[in-house]
Amino acid sequence: MKSVGIKGLHHVTLVTGNYQVNSTFYVELMGLRRVKLSVNQDDVYHRHAFYANPTSTVGSTITFFEWPHLARGHPGLGVPHHIAYRVRSAESLSSWYWWLKSRSVPVAGPFERFYGFSIYVCDPDGAIVEIVTPKDGLNLDYVKELLNRGIEVKHIDDEMKLIAFDHATIIGQDAELVCRFYEKFVGVSTWEKVIDEGGRTYLVALDDERNAYLHYLIPNEADYGLVGRGAIHHVAFAVDDELDQRSIMRRLNSVNLSNSGIVDRFWFRSLYFRDPDGNLLEVATVGPGYAVDEPWDQLGNKLVLPPWIESMRPEIEEALAKLDSDNPFRWPPDFPVLPEDPEVYPPSQTRSNTLNT
Ligand SMILES: [Fe+2]
Ligand SMILES: [Fe+2]
Repeated sequence: MKSVGIKGLHHVTLVTGNYQVNSTFYVELMGLRRVKLSVNQDDVYHRHAFYANPTSTVGSTITFFEWPHLARGHPGLGVPHHIAYRVRSAESLSSWYWWLKSRSVPVAGPFERFYGFSIYVCDPDGAIVEIVTPKDGLNLDYVKELLNRGIEVKHIDDEMKLIAFDHATIIGQDAELVCRFYEKFVGVSTWEKVIDEGGRTYLVALDDERNAYLHYLIPNEADYGLVGRGAIHHVAFAVDDELDQRSIMRRLNSVNLSNSGIVDRFWFRSLYFRDPDGNLLEVATVGPGYAVDEPWDQLGNKLVLPPWIESMRPEIEEALAKLDSDNPFRWPPDFPVLPEDPEVYPPSQTRSNTLNT
């Protein structure tokens, strides 16, 4: 059977209650570019918006289904915990801290993690987005001092830009079962087990260059999560082509594990299945890419539909207009409060967003 080449993360999909609020946050405050505006192909009367670093969309694309009618979700078994973007340096981290603070976005940190220094941001729906920079021989005292200096950041410059995902964090119950599942079915066989400074157990998946891209947090106890506003709906891994997807599908089918079969999403092809804890996973092809149906410099400017639903455009546009007129959410959002340490699961009851000096 062909070996599978997972190339790290492809995209991560969450749920938002309001496309306009979500777009303002991720484009204007997080500095990403909207690279596609479409509809959920399995629920065509609701939007699906894609944001990414425009120079490296695979591995940096965060996407959102707009479902205003859903209650606020929360992470747990079956609902991944958070997503992390990498930045260049501790100076970039400091710029992000003050940029977001000055715009009333909740920020927690800095924290020293086994993989770098991090701050955490809460988006308007309550999703936790981590911003992390490699340690580069620095210590936490230096990073805290840097962040304590207080700077005025007028815009997001190239030095600050979110480069790509550093990792997605999923909650799992059984470390050995997670490793066996990924090794047998997804072809991910290089894992490191880490006990961090807080005593938490993580499983870390490494790619061929030994770069981490996926964390499984294995808490002592875990409850089921809820898919809703602010929750992660699914995590997608990148593969070169359909041959890799077919290999995974054959492995899943050999033991009757439920999967979607290969689905044409027009900008990539997808295969969906669940891990042992019920988390929805996707394996997506790198190509053909977002520029297949609109010029690169105009990506995400208008609603695009895959050809097989283009004939439904009038009904879709009417439904979206109705959704907008009924939508209760507005900018500026009432940002939810971040847990004191957002990496803690189950979350601590103590709440604070101050610099932890
Ligand atoms: Fe993290
Ligand atoms: Fe997806």
